[in-house]
Amino acid sequence: MVFAGVLAGGVGSRMGNYTIPKQFLTINDKPIIAHVVEKFLIHNEVDLVIVGINPAWYQTMVDIQKKYLSEFKNLVVVKGGADRNATIDAVIKEARKHSQDEDDIIVTHDAVRPFVTLKMISDNIDAARTYGVCDTVIPATDTIVYSENGDHITDIPVRSKMYQGQTPQSFRIALFEEVYSSMSEEELKIVTDACKMFMLKGHQVHLVEGHVSNIKITYPYDYKVAQIMMENMNND
Ligand code: CTP
Repeated sequence: MVFAGVLAGGVGSRMGNYTIPKQFLTINDKPIIAHVVEKFLIHNEVDLVIVGINPAWYQTMVDIQKKYLSEFKNLVVVKGGADRNATIDAVIKEARKHSQDEDDIIVTHDAVRPFVTLKMISDNIDAARTYGVCDTVIPATDTIVYSENGDHITDIPVRSKMYQGQTPQSFRIALFEEVYSSMSEEELKIVTDACKMFMLKGHQVHLVEGHVSNIKITYPYDYKVAQIMMENMNND
């Protein structure tokens, strides 16, 4: 089976003064998370979409499901974990209730990247099937400056070898279970990115082409940009 895991366990602390987590803010009168979930629900290779939601906001997501997504039957909402990888783990535990197949794939995606395309999802599914694990990236356009202490430059890596990580990040579920269960508590504290976990355990993570438009809403500025982008798409 092919699962999609929409990661919505966070509270969006970098957004500042909003009273609700960023995934519930609306664009075109529809919550951002509903835009995201819909992309996976309409993808013809995705069998089941599992949303991992912050436990304090579980009912809000259930209400959104009823109001905006009730026509879709292949959507399940579960409570997410204390960090992003724990939310992935919660989603995968739910997936395992539906299938135990060795070849099951999961495409995980931030609930706050509403411009993911169907092609990115397809490319992720293909790459996860072929390579076991993949990450969506775009080539870095700015020079990346590395500083150990935030005071002076330690290194300036060659830009042509630098990429910016986006999502989806996708993998064979059995591989995630193997990797996640082998992580020590110390490792889990430091490693917040799922693909880094795979790397740490010796797996080669394949690159999938993302797009500059696949932005993550992190700050209020990103929310404004996302509203304008959606507006322009509707006018195209
Ligand atoms: N996420 C998650 N479970 C957590 C923490 C984060 O599923 N325990 C999700 C977020 O909901 C988001 C994605 O991971 O969709 C990317 O994380 P980020 O942008 O950092 O979101 P927040 O943690 O909500 O934001 P902030 O760091 O500003 O608090």
